[in-house]
Amino acid sequence: MKDQYGREINYLRLSVTELCNLRCRYCMPETGVCKKPHEAMLTEDEMIAAVEAAASLGVTKLRITGGEPLVKRNIVSICARAARVPGISEVCITTNGVLLPKLAKGLRSAGVTRVNLSLDTLNADKYARITRIGQLDGALAGLHAALDAGFDKIKINAVLIGGFNDDEIADLAELTRTYPVDVRFIELMPMVDSREFGPEAFIPCTEVLRRLPDAAPAAPDGGVARLYRLPGAQGSIGLISPVSDHFCASCNRIRLTADGKLKPCLHSAEEISLKGLSPEAMREAMRRAILEKPSCHAALSATQHSRAARNMNQIGG
Ligand code: GTP
Ligand code: 5AD
Ligand code: SF4
Repeated sequence: MKDQYGREINYLRLSVTELCNLRCRYCMPETGVCKKPHEAMLTEDEMIAAVEAAASLGVTKLRITGGEPLVKRNIVSICARAARVPGISEVCITTNGVLLPKLAKGLRSAGVTRVNLSLDTLNADKYARITRIGQLDGALAGLHAALDAGFDKIKINAVLIGGFNDDEIADLAELTRTYPVDVRFIELMPMVDSREFGPEAFIPCTEVLRRLPDAAPAAPDGGVARLYRLPGAQGSIGLISPVSDHFCASCNRIRLTADGKLKPCLHSAEEISLKGLSPEAMREAMRRAILEKPSCHAALSATQHSRAARNMNQIGG
């Protein structure tokens, strides 16, 4: 269905857990998250009921997020059931990749069409630093497992952080020549817990083009990234610029958190609870969330933090 600004809302981002096996500095606190009581979280049946409600309102694309979705014990079952919901034509996952060697083939068989994989650096020390507890080899093994499993498309997400990985833009972009993958650079978004990043960390995506003089504009794929391509590359380079040039006017998505809160907008504090609702009430709540979707979010910058009352791991990106 359309929201009050005429935007067709056809994309649901469903977070299945707040927990994660990494602790990325821009995403969550070092201590991890306080595990909420089981009863506060959506059950698998409630998640599927929510997907059905969304599909009945015109949602065709589902993206499973987290935290890290693959730490969820019943992730394959959730994906398989979601993929069977009438109207859902695409089930995608955003993951840090660490558990893909174990799960990629099962997810593919369950009907997952596409995978986006987070990878901010190709340097092992820097990977350990940004994720606090991760190992680069684990993420790279995940990338290879995804390639082997035969997903329709693999996109690598690199959060662009001035003074941390801007010197690796060319190396990360080179992955599009080595593998059939897209690489997207995402501007660092100032969330509640990103206080440790100073102004120098928030650099615009245009920096990517400055470092890639051979990149030529490429046709859009309907996503939030502006696309470019290197000569001879198998995949595209994407620039996602929520800070310097937000894409709210063409936003087509709503979000559902693991504790059952519908978020009409990533950077707004507004939340509508679905927990414990009947299927019909869920559908009505979702209709309201779409109608109440704001036209755009407030300005973001190093000093203007997101108005979302949560960190990214509690939203799902
Ligand atoms: P595709 O389906 O492949 O186009 O994926 P996607 O870009 O929608 O999803 P992904 O989970 O890979 O997100 C990539 C980055 O874009 C993450 O940093 C998200 O937080 C960010 N992002 C996704 N949707 C939005 C949005 O609506 N607003 C803002 N500001 N950022 C978003
Ligand atoms: N700014 C930009 N991207 C972020 N992500 C998590 N936190 C932030 C942030 N503060 C990204 C992850 C993942 C996606 C779901 O969101 O790297 O690729
Ligand atoms: Fe985990 Fe992804 Fe957040 Fe990193 S960005 S801590 S991998 S949820």
